[in-house]
Formats: sequence, C-alpha cells, structure tokens
Amino acid sequence: MVYLDNAATSYPKPEKVYDAVLDHMKNFGANPGRSGHQLALQAGRGIFKTRELIAKLFNIENPMQVVFTCNATDSLNLAIKGVLKEGDHVITSSMEHNSVLRPIKSLESKGIENTIIQCDCEGFINTKDIKNAIKSNTKMIALTHGSNVTGTIMPIKEVGKIAKEANVLFLVDGAQTGGIYDIDVNEMNIDLLALPGHKGLMGPQGTGFLYIRENLNVMHFKEGGTGSKSEELTQPQMMPDRYESGTANAPGISGLGAGIEFILKEGLEKIRNHEKELTQYFIDELKKIEPVKIYGPKDAEKQGAVVSINIGSEDSSEIAYILDSAFNIAVRSGLHCAPLAHKTIGSFEQGTVRFGIGYFNTKEDIDKAIVAIKEICSEI
Ligand SMILES: Cc1ncc(COP(=O)(O)O)c(C=O)c1O
Repeated sequence: MVYLDNAATSYPKPEKVYDAVLDHMKNFGANPGRSGHQLALQAGRGIFKTRELIAKLFNIENPMQVVFTCNATDSLNLAIKGVLKEGDHVITSSMEHNSVLRPIKSLESKGIENTIIQCDCEGFINTKDIKNAIKSNTKMIALTHGSNVTGTIMPIKEVGKIAKEANVLFLVDGAQTGGIYDIDVNEMNIDLLALPGHKGLMGPQGTGFLYIRENLNVMHFKEGGTGSKSEELTQPQMMPDRYESGTANAPGISGLGAGIEFILKEGLEKIRNHEKELTQYFIDELKKIEPVKIYGPKDAEKQGAVVSINIGSEDSSEIAYILDSAFNIAVRSGLHCAPLAHKTIGSFEQGTVRFGIGYFNTKEDIDKAIVAIKEICSEI
C-alpha cells in the first residue's frame, strides 16, 4: 500500500513511537499525577518530558503552558470558546477547517460576531483584509497556518504582528504544519497554538495540545479530578491542571514525545526539504497529464505537502476508490471538513482528490501515484 493520506494522520510512525507506547503501557502504565508510588511517578515523568519537548520545538518558555488534549479539534474548541464572550468579534479565513469554523459559527447564537476573510482562488489571504476587518470589539484572529485542502501557507508571522499591534489575540491552527515548519510562538506573536499530536508531530491518535500564553485567562470546559488540590470542590486554577481533568492518555503522550524526539533529531529543515522535493516533483509531473486540474499554489515553496486535484469532471470519491482498489494507493476525497475552502478554490460540488505526502514517502511512491493517475486518465 502506498499511503498518501498524511494530511489526515501521519502513517507509519517512527519505530520509536511504537516502542514508547508499548514501553509505557507494559512497564509503567500507572495513573500519572494521582498516586505517589514509583510507577505513577514514572508515568508522570513521561508526560512532563513530552511537555518539555513540545516547549522546545515551539520555543515556549514555560512547559506548564502546554495543555494536553485529544486532538486539534479539542484544542481549537478550548481556545475559541474559552476566550470569546458575548459582544466580542473574531476574524478568521475562508480556508479554515470546520474545527475552527464550526465553533466560531456556533458562538453567533451567544452574541459573538465573526468576519470570515475571503481568500483568493489559490487559498492565499490578503493581510490588508485582516487589518481592515479589525474593529473595536475584535478579540481574536484565528488562522490556519497551512490549508488542509491546498497546502497554502498563510503569512502567520505578518498576521501575528498585526494582531499584536491591534492588541488582538492570535490563535494559530498548526494542524498541517507543526513538526514540518518552524513555528516560534514568541517570534510570531502567537497567543494560542492548537496542534494535533498525530499528524506532523508523528505521535499516536488521541493526542494533541493547546499552548496558552502566560496570564491569558481561557475558560475551562471540564471540572473534575486533577490529582491536585483534592481538598477543594472547585477546579484548581494552576497550569496545566485547570484544563487537564481526568486520566490522561499517558501512553499516547509518551509516544508523542518519541515522535517529537525523532523530529528534533532529524531536524525540521530536513523533514521540510524532503516533503518539499516530493511535492514539487509530483506537481510538475501532474501538470503534464490531461485532464488533471491541480488546485492551490502549485509551488512547493508556497504550500505544504498537500496536493489536491481533480480529473476532468469525474467524481473525486470515485477516483479515490479506484486509486485504493486498483492501485493500492490511499488518499482522501471529498470536502476534507473544509467546505468554505472548496468554495474558495471552486471545487465545492466535486470535492478534490487529496494527496497528503509525509516524511516517510519516497519518490517511488510518487511515481506509483503518477502511473496510476495516467492510467485512470487514459481510461476515462
Ligand atoms: C487544518 C486542520 N485543522 C484542524 C484539524 C482537526 O484535527 P484533529 O482531527 O486532530 O482534531 C485538521 C485535521 O485534518 C486540519 O487539517
């Protein structure tokens, strides 16, 4: 099987990720942060180590500002609903995933306004539009770093500067870029950074985190056991306990730590360059095939390792089915939970066939995809 669905979740994972999950479960699978025995302490250390690794990768000064969640959706909901209050205004883009758009839309009924900036047909945002949309009640700009439909990279450093100058909070959805692109929360003025652990960070599913800038009051959703301040009937306010009620996915978090260690060892530049080379090669070959339509920038300098195409007017799901069943190639079709992005690029009716290239893909994988697409094109 050629796996080209890394934009949904990365697969395979580095061997050390599998080893870390198994090691945790078999050798110190106790409940972290609860009991005081050796095994519980070891489990707790596994979690803290991952917190520190995340802090290192994203230049977060205090690892305690990293809150573990189940996925990016969890992190985005906490950031959006935990910050915005009645009378506030939030700015976002038409290239967002539903994990940003749905929480924002749901807040309309609570008196929270939104402006969705229309991006161009390649998914690029004009930062002037963001500036112009800022009003006296604007509380937050929520922006994806990389589109999960076209890979289009957003100018988050520039937007961070705009947000800081306007005294507006900046939430970044790094689901498609974390672990591949350099994200520095300080240099980019990011107040809230939402990430899944299971994509570019190479960790297991069921992991994710939200970075919350120090002294930012984000309302928690859950109250419950934290293993701390058990004598009190109210939720502790200290970080990260305030947001981490209930038993953690400790084996998953240990695996996530191993994924980040792998990234730090390889280096972001090497990872990005490998994905960039494969992406550009794929795009250049696709350009030669009729009637393939490629969406997005078509330039690996301006997009992540996500390539969306259609073949004439063929149904994208049908093409994905043929790739899977006849060629053993795994891709994703349809709207990729980002309906406005498809409206933006003009593929709302058809959806697209999305190829998500990962660090473990090879040129041979891309060649197999090209041969398959050529064969499908010759038969329609
Ligand atoms: C840009 C973007 N944001 C958010 C998400 C949601 O991530 P998760 O499935 O980890 O909740 C995804 C997942 O595909 C994504 O691509």
